Order: sequence, then structure tokens, then C-alpha cells
Amino acid sequence: MLRIAQLQFSSPFVLAPLAGYTDLPFRLLCRRYGAAYCVSEMISCHGLVYLHSNTVRMLNSIPEEKPVSFQLFGAEPDIMAEAAVILESYQPDMIDINMGCPVKKVTKRGAGAALMTRPDLAEEIISKIIKKVSLPVTVKIRSGKDQQNINSVEFAKMIEGCGAAAVTVHARTWAQGFSGTITPDIIRRVKEAVTIPVIGNGDILSLQDGRTLMSDTGCDGVMIGRGALGNPWLFSDTERPKSLAAITEVAKQHLQLMEQFLPAEKVLGYVKNQMCRYYKALPGCSSLRRQIFDAPTLSALKGLLTEME
Ligand SMILES: Cc1cc2nc3c(=O)[nH]c(=O)nc-3n(C[C@H](O)[C@H](O)[C@H](O)COP(=O)(O)O)c2cc1C
Repeated sequence: MLRIAQLQFSSPFVLAPLAGYTDLPFRLLCRRYGAAYCVSEMISCHGLVYLHSNTVRMLNSIPEEKPVSFQLFGAEPDIMAEAAVILESYQPDMIDINMGCPVKKVTKRGAGAALMTRPDLAEEIISKIIKKVSLPVTVKIRSGKDQQNINSVEFAKMIEGCGAAAVTVHARTWAQGFSGTITPDIIRRVKEAVTIPVIGNGDILSLQDGRTLMSDTGCDGVMIGRGALGNPWLFSDTERPKSLAAITEVAKQHLQLMEQFLPAEKVLGYVKNQMCRYYKALPGCSSLRRQIFDAPTLSALKGLLTEME
């Protein structure tokens, strides 16, 4: 059973943080289908400290989705600690620190995966956050900067030494971005080196894939990202339904949650992004997706979904 600090989870399968996707509606849906817990989109420490409205909106949560983890990104230790205190006041169950994002916008400021090249700075960030908050703090990392600089084992030991409650390892390097394949052995080596829970991540498309990763590496849990997009069924260990009607039923449920919890002016854009994922694997999907993208209004989009039922 997966345990992180005092928290016990009914499943070892966790929804990964996915910017642009893991908002409250999608997290709720994945929890309903059985995800152990979900991680929010990455939240900027500056956005939090300056209380930017778009950042504060990301903290929207309701009791039904608990337990939930909010993820923080940034590179300045004092600002990260200040932001973590604000994050804690919104009462998530855990705080995760992003040390794995390879996106330029994030790494050029020294945050995300760039922190794996500066372990001293990373250590200062983690320690300062842990000193300031009482929630369990977890850290999400990659295998290292590139094939010549794999440092996940030493990095994970540093994370454990700071008092973090768990570490997630996306077993690709920063240089790999999202291409190529993961190296499961990296997860195995991290698991052997630390005593805190290790969550393996990368390329998991079914719970069976996840079980294999756990038995191959000994990791305590598995984080699933892209495989869950348009596919929350994954967490209930069932295959994506084959019929358009069955898929549309869940797509509509997702749409309804988005209308309920997202600001009206944002819904159409978000909905299109998420809805297209549902129809990815179906015959004729490209024309379906085009129709979704071309829908001028939310009611036109709803009409389209009703026709698909
Ligand atoms: C669209 C997208 C957005 C992502 N956003 C985040 C993020 O906000 N924070 C983070 O730590 N990782 C982020 N990731 C990385 C994922 O959490 C995960 O580590 C990666 O996709 C590998 O897992 P997967 O193969 O199951 O997708 C993102 C990945 C994608 C594709």
C-alpha cells in the first residue's frame, strides 16, 4: 500500500501534474475513477506571492477531491518558502516541488529540471520550504541533466536528507524532454538508495504497465500523466470504451465539471483542449476533433456532443 508521511492511499496510481490539464475538474474525474491522489498543475511561486488572479484560481479545490497535492515551481529559496506558506493556507494534503520540468520558460529562470544541475540551491529550496510548512513535502525529479550527468540517486538522497516525504522520478533526462523512452533502472537505483517512498513515472499507459514498473523497480507508487488524458477510465483498470456513445458520456461529465468549476470565459478554450483527447483513438477522429475545435460557442459544442451520444 502506498503511504506518504501519515497519508495512506487505497491505490498506488497517482495522476501526474500536467500544466493545462490537471485542474479541479479533471482531478475530480480521475479521483472518481480511482486515482490515489492527483497533483495540480505547476503553480508559480511568484504568482502566489503576488497573488496573481490566474495563479490563485489554480488553488480551487473541494473536499471531494482530497487527498490532493499542489505543485510549486520556482528557483528562489525565500520566495519558494513564502509561496509554500500561502499554498498551505489553502489546505492541500501535500506540497510537491517541481524539479523536473524541461520547458524553456521554466528552466531559463533556473527552475524545474534546471535545479538538478544545482543541487545546493535545490537543497536550500527544499529545506526552507520544509522548515516553514507542516504538510508533507514531496519532490518530482528527472534522471539528470543528460546521459553524461545522471545524478538522480545522489539528488534523491539529498531530498531525503532534507526531510521530504517522498520523491517522484520521471526516468528521462532533462535533455530528452518527452521523447525517447524511460530508463526504469534509474527508478530501481533510486529506490535502493533511499527509504522514503519512491514514485516511478514515465510512459505508463495502463495499470498493468504500472504494476510491471513496480515489480521491476520496487517503486512504491506510479504516477501517470499523458496516458490519463481523455482517458480517466485508466485509473479503474478498465480499457477505454470502444463506442462513441460511452466515450461521450464521460466527456460530457467532464464538460459539466468544467462548467461548474472554471470561470465562464475560460471554459470554451479548456474544454476544446480536453475534449479532443477523448476522441484521439477513434476511427474518423481527425474530423471529430476538427469539429470540436471549430465549435464557436459552448452550446454549439454541447450540441455536437449530444449528436455523438
Ligand atoms: C502537457 C504536459 C504538461 C506537464 N506539466 C507538468 C507540470 O506542471 N509539472 C510537472 O512536474 N510535470 C509536468 N509534466 C510532466 C508529467 O508530469 C510527467 O512527468 C511526464 O509527462 C511523464 O509521464 P507520462 O509519460 O505518464 O506522461 C507535464 C507533461 C505534459 C505532457
